Amino acid sequence: TTPLRLGIAGLGTVGVGIVRIVQKHSALLALRAGRPVEITAVSARSKTKDRGVDLSAYAWEDDPVTLAKRDDIDLFIEVMGGHEGPAKDATEAAIASGKDIVSANKALLAIHGQALAEAAEAAGHVIRFEAAVAGGIPVVKSLTEGLAGNEITRVMGVMNGSCNYILTRMEDAGLSYEAVFEEANQLGYLEADPELDVGGIDAGHKLALLASIAFGTQVDFDSVELEGIGSVTIEDIHQAADMGFKIKLLGVAQMTGRGLEQRMSPCLVPDTSPLGQLQGGTNMVVLEGDAVNQIVLRGPGAGEGPTASAVMGDVMDIARGCRISTFGQPANTLRKARAARAAVP
Ligand code: NAP
Ligand code: HSE
Repeated sequence: TTPLRLGIAGLGTVGVGIVRIVQKHSALLALRAGRPVEITAVSARSKTKDRGVDLSAYAWEDDPVTLAKRDDIDLFIEVMGGHEGPAKDATEAAIASGKDIVSANKALLAIHGQALAEAAEAAGHVIRFEAAVAGGIPVVKSLTEGLAGNEITRVMGVMNGSCNYILTRMEDAGLSYEAVFEEANQLGYLEADPELDVGGIDAGHKLALLASIAFGTQVDFDSVELEGIGSVTIEDIHQAADMGFKIKLLGVAQMTGRGLEQRMSPCLVPDTSPLGQLQGGTNMVVLEGDAVNQIVLRGPGAGEGPTASAVMGDVMDIARGCRISTFGQPANTLRKARAARAAVP
């Protein structure tokens, strides 16, 4: 049988996690996919860094764009990060050279996802990104598969583990925002640019992606009303507690008479509710549909194993022959529908 040949761009937390899963579970993956799933080539900045995994069987590329164009890979996995530069260039190169794509890069997808999806669809390739939203929680699959018979009415949740860690640590230890921010930064919990986390931007990227899937709309990060957690004080947290509430960085997306509303901001939630009980770096996503009513998904939103697990779920779907991209509606179909509406006098 023909193997599915993977090229992995990025060998940091997520990339190494993918290598570990493919090496540890190669027999299981082949059994489940009906064909071998193999890594052919990898790319990162440093060729000499010890990453704790054996990469000697794989071809090495210094340039992820060259990796994306290799004839001996079928599927390009982008786990470098960043919404411009190598991640964007390599993803575009992969589409142009006939590869399917799996990405964990929420920033790239929230900003350029629509154009990438249209290019991939026009070329007949698949682009998937379960890992970009809520890490190890299969929230995209839940929307696109399990809830496919529903009209989705609302999606909401806590989608940034770092902010949830900061807020729960302030509650538990009675510490100021500044003290806990410093602690989280020292522990390496925050993005290289912490404003992505505490400014609500990372969570906003995830909400915009989720909303586009849920409501079949164009991904529209610019329309997310964003407010981070930087102005939440310990006094706010104490006052909320006195009234029986917790403060959470909560994302809500819903379709209204005025169109899609997307908001990511600190909110009061009842402290006995599932959202109020959410501790530390955990994520929780609530999906509401006209038939199902409500489901609640909870789990690890980040980390090597959970994020690589979500990437591999997409890889396995493609290995089994699934040709459906992550965005809820075919990207070009949406664009044509918008153009047709705009043309009506
Ligand atoms: P990371 O640990 O910082 O690793 C990034 C990797 O990309 C490194 O191996 C780096 O190479 C490589 N890289 C960066 N620029 C490159 C370039 N120009 N050419 C070749 N390689 C390059 O990042 P990560 O945590 O694994 O995250 C990867 C992606 O997954 C990001 O988009 C992130 O937002 C997303 N994500 C991460 C998590 C998580 O829990 N970490 C969860 C969900 C989604 P060197 O190692 O040589 O420096
Ligand atoms: N900085 C992100 C978080 C990483 O804290 O949730 C996972 O997307």
